[in-house]
Amino acid sequence: MSMDWTPGSWRTKPIEQVPAYPDPLALAETEKRLSTFPPLVFAGEARKLMRGLGEVAEGRAFLLQGGDCAESFAEHGADNIRDFFRAFLQMAVVLTFAASSPVVKVGRIAGQFAKPRSNPDETRDGQTLPSYRGDIINGIEFDEASRIPNPERQEMAYRQSAATLNLLRAFAQGGYANLENVHTWMLGFLADSPQAARYRQLADRISETMHFMRAIGINAESHPSLRETDFFTSHEALLLGYEEALTRVDSTSGDWYATSGHMIWIGDRTRQENNAHVEFCRGIRNPIGLKCGPSLEPDGLIRLIDKLNPDNIPGRLTLIARFGHEKVEAHLPKLIRAVQKEGRKVVWSCDPMHGNTITLNGYKTRPFDRILAEVQSFFDVHHAEGTHAGGIHVEMTGKDVTECTGGTRAVSAEDLSDRYHTHCDPRLNATQALELAFLVAELLKKDRESVPARKAVNF
Ligand code: TRP
Ligand code: MN
Repeated sequence: MSMDWTPGSWRTKPIEQVPAYPDPLALAETEKRLSTFPPLVFAGEARKLMRGLGEVAEGRAFLLQGGDCAESFAEHGADNIRDFFRAFLQMAVVLTFAASSPVVKVGRIAGQFAKPRSNPDETRDGQTLPSYRGDIINGIEFDEASRIPNPERQEMAYRQSAATLNLLRAFAQGGYANLENVHTWMLGFLADSPQAARYRQLADRISETMHFMRAIGINAESHPSLRETDFFTSHEALLLGYEEALTRVDSTSGDWYATSGHMIWIGDRTRQENNAHVEFCRGIRNPIGLKCGPSLEPDGLIRLIDKLNPDNIPGRLTLIARFGHEKVEAHLPKLIRAVQKEGRKVVWSCDPMHGNTITLNGYKTRPFDRILAEVQSFFDVHHAEGTHAGGIHVEMTGKDVTECTGGTRAVSAEDLSDRYHTHCDPRLNATQALELAFLVAELLKKDRESVPARKAVNF
């Protein structure tokens, strides 16, 4: 790590997507207070995630990352968290079985509050106000008081993250994540699904495996690993003042860690190599994600890798490709080849959401077909290049919302208005999310059949 890095060294660099706080003194006071609060996660957990992602980078595990586009203060309820976790775990089981390898589980949750925007302002009926930038910065309501950035919101976001993480830890370790429960929920999903036949075979094989394990005495009572799981948190590291306040030295290693979440990522709009967001992320030791959109060229990617993972540690860097379903072929192969040629260890993950957003009947939406098509192309390209399609990154909820069109219980353009609740981008509902997992399972199975068995190791 370069000597001149400090948690605040980003402040001397050019920066994009900064909210205009009217009272810099109040902002500084909030950041100072935050810097005295307990960390939300601890460094040992971030290192454990790094080891898991290292296995993904080596082709021996798969990454499932997902959650809200933006968490909100209004929807901070136990039911929301539980329903998300339930849908997410079902996806994880299906993927674990299909890949025959561990699935590293990372939520976009407990900190995913700040949003980059294309325009700093929004105009409605002749009135211009600052754009909504996520609940950690300002309010979504279109009035002046809500839209002015308010530093107090950072403390609210911190406390909400702590409460969310607390419940998730309880769920992950306290019995709710029991494999047998998750399997029962999955069967419930199939019973209600009009096109269950396609997924039945895989589900039956999982059921048989569960019965077999029980028969030979492997059950949740005798084997804690069946009733517990490791679940990690992640969010976009956009609001750097907040991130800096939660950056701490780990007393065991002496290294700096962001303690706002286990993994943080750099957005496609803030990944300029000499700017603040890259500067901040290069100095912390957590696993880092980098969103890769169509404007990223191979040389630029390698320079970013030089900065973000100079020691070439597998699991440190996850490249999250988000091109749009028709652009994967044009962009992904050249990036993969550059990375291979330079011998860089990375996790390749596919975000099939952000390049496939359209507007229908006045609603931002994403057609399920295009989401699938992007994942399919991502797998095809990796297959052709001989590299590991390592994961998916999705925006999803456990609720039955109507935000993305399509899926087996088809959401039509007309249905969008029924239950459109997102604070930002359209999310997969619980059914669409699980259906996506079944379809990815088919791709993983093909992958597994065509490459020599990779031996999974525990991490
Ligand atoms: N502990 C294992 C794992 O995390 C098995 C497991 C327990 C699991 N509960 C789960 C897997 C829920 C997926 C979903 O992989
Ligand atoms: Mn989004």
